[in-house]
Amino acid sequence: MPSSMARTPKQAAPKPPEAAAVRSAGADDLEAIRAIYNEGIEDGIATLDYDVKTHAQMRDWFEQRSTRYPVIVACRDGQVVGWASLNPYSHRCAYNGVADLSIYVRRDARGQGVGTELMAEIEELARAKDFHKIVLHALTDNPAGRRLYEKRDFRDVGVFKEQGRLDGRFVDVIAMEKILAAG
Ligand SMILES: CC(C)(COP(=O)(O)OP(=O)(O)OC[C@H]1O[C@@H](n2cnc3c(N)ncnc32)[C@H](O)[C@@H]1OP(=O)(O)O)[C@@H](O)C(=O)NCCC(=O)NCCS
Repeated sequence: MPSSMARTPKQAAPKPPEAAAVRSAGADDLEAIRAIYNEGIEDGIATLDYDVKTHAQMRDWFEQRSTRYPVIVACRDGQVVGWASLNPYSHRCAYNGVADLSIYVRRDARGQGVGTELMAEIEELARAKDFHKIVLHALTDNPAGRRLYEKRDFRDVGVFKEQGRLDGRFVDVIAMEKILAAG
């Protein structure tokens, strides 16, 4: 056989990343949650929060939540690679059926389906906790976030122009929502 036709040993196709296991977060997950959140802050397109968080701040955030506002984590190989939470939208009683959403995936685990898994679970939890809808605010410059929400059938409510200031420049923020049909 001419050497040009010699077969090279078949290379194993790269394994697709395995699905993450999603579960309720506990106090032991807080350091990982904090590290992932701080990556989101440093990215500058995920949130209008721009001070990275300390452990004490995250502990307060976690401890002050009632059971109606869960935090969940996605884990792979025993490591937390993403988290999501339902947050109070307003203290006014009439908004009792509305939850605000946060979702963050570790930088090296993005684009592998973790966000989609977290969204599916947090929406199930929102239904179980009798929320009627989920709302969120995303920077218009966040294509990954917007695609994830569109994929989960969130609709655009509208754009707040020059709503926040990051690194000295005004940024636009889009409000999105999803009415939760009975599961
Ligand atoms: C936004 C975020 C949570 C998405 O999670 P993820 O695990 O990367 O998302 P998934 O892999 O499940 O992908 C969801 C969809 O977004 C698409 N997507 C992922 N990254 C993208 C990017 N950079 N640009 C455009 N689309 C992107 C995926 O292709 C997929 O759509 P498809 O199924 O039609 O192909 C994640 O990128 C992240 O943590 N970003 C930083 C924090 C942040 O922005 N949080 C949201 C604040 S509003």
